[in-house]
Amino acid sequence: MLNDSFGRRFHYLRLSITDVCNYRCDYCLPDGYQGGKPSGFLSPAEIETVVGAFASLGTHKIRLTGGEPSLRKDVPDIIQRIHAHPDIHHIGMTTNGFSLEKSVDTWADCGLDSVNISIDSLDPKMFNAITGHNHLPQILRGIDRALSLGIKVKVNVVLMKTINHSALQRFLAWIKALPITLRFIELMQTGDNQRLFDREHVSGQPIKARLLEDGWLPFLRDKAAGPAEEFYHTESAGRIGLIMPYSKDFCASCNRLRLSATGKLHLCLFAEQGLDLRDTIRAGDVDALASQLEQLLGDKQASHYLDAGFTGATQHLAMIGG
Ligand code: GTP
Ligand code: 5AD
Ligand code: SF4
Repeated sequence: MLNDSFGRRFHYLRLSITDVCNYRCDYCLPDGYQGGKPSGFLSPAEIETVVGAFASLGTHKIRLTGGEPSLRKDVPDIIQRIHAHPDIHHIGMTTNGFSLEKSVDTWADCGLDSVNISIDSLDPKMFNAITGHNHLPQILRGIDRALSLGIKVKVNVVLMKTINHSALQRFLAWIKALPITLRFIELMQTGDNQRLFDREHVSGQPIKARLLEDGWLPFLRDKAAGPAEEFYHTESAGRIGLIMPYSKDFCASCNRLRLSATGKLHLCLFAEQGLDLRDTIRAGDVDALASQLEQLLGDKQASHYLDAGFTGATQHLAMIGG
């Protein structure tokens, strides 16, 4: 089993399959992807080795992340191979949603269970200003298509003071009849976004207080769930989640590890460095990889220390998939 020295257990792997992204979100890649010609990403066969090793240590849930994972042409093959592993019970993907409408049928056929999509504004002009693309209508159609196929949908909204902090009512009205979970995420400081962070960061606590006043009730977390505190309301089909990495004890319930697209293990989103597992992965030795993972987990720290302004080596979240 994957346990650390603070008694936390790791059932959930966030697996980045590319660091390339076609969007330019203000807080992440404001100047677009700057990495040059993409290369060196784990192949589908190497991903199978990774999944085999993590699954042998108790991982049941895999989330594909990026960059934008759907920019890889072999996503269907990757999903299929992960789905073929008998111990993986849930495959999710975090995507900007630009190709959801055209691809979600194929992904569902291959075994995808859920998608998490970023929508920081329901106003098409503002959406365009934040991401550099006017894809909002096609993303919304993609969400409807995903729901009709039985794919679970979560939408991520990164909270920003001047952009969406006062848009709570509009988001609540949107999910009243839409069975999705909408999560407000506190903007996290990374190496590259210091100025934006200073200008735009707001806490999610006032939203939580407002929801509780308005009759929203806390929803109990599943052991494999991500870090969101969730709320439901009898008069809303959609739920609300709050991801508040700056709140006390956020890291105590950490249950996930990260692997970068080139095979580096990140013990935390804000770790000082990734631990290179590529040679073992390339050799296809599932048992050797599993024992390497067990050993490395001894070094996992108690917290991210973000509140002290520590961002580790993380320049932006596209590097390791958030
Ligand atoms: P679920 O499995 O659906 O609950 O997913 P999730 O919320 O973990 O995944 P998603 O990729 O949608 O991430 C949403 C936000 O949570 C992103 O901004 C992530 O960077 C952030 N997040 C996820 N895990 C962690 C974590 O361990 N630490 C921190 N600080 N942020 C995290
Ligand atoms: N702070 C908070 N969330 C972020 N995301 C990307 N960068 C940041 C940041 N600095 C979010 C994206 C996406 C998810 C994977 O991470 O909006 O929904
Ligand atoms: Fe791309 Fe996601 Fe970063 Fe936006 S937040 S630029 S969609 S990786």
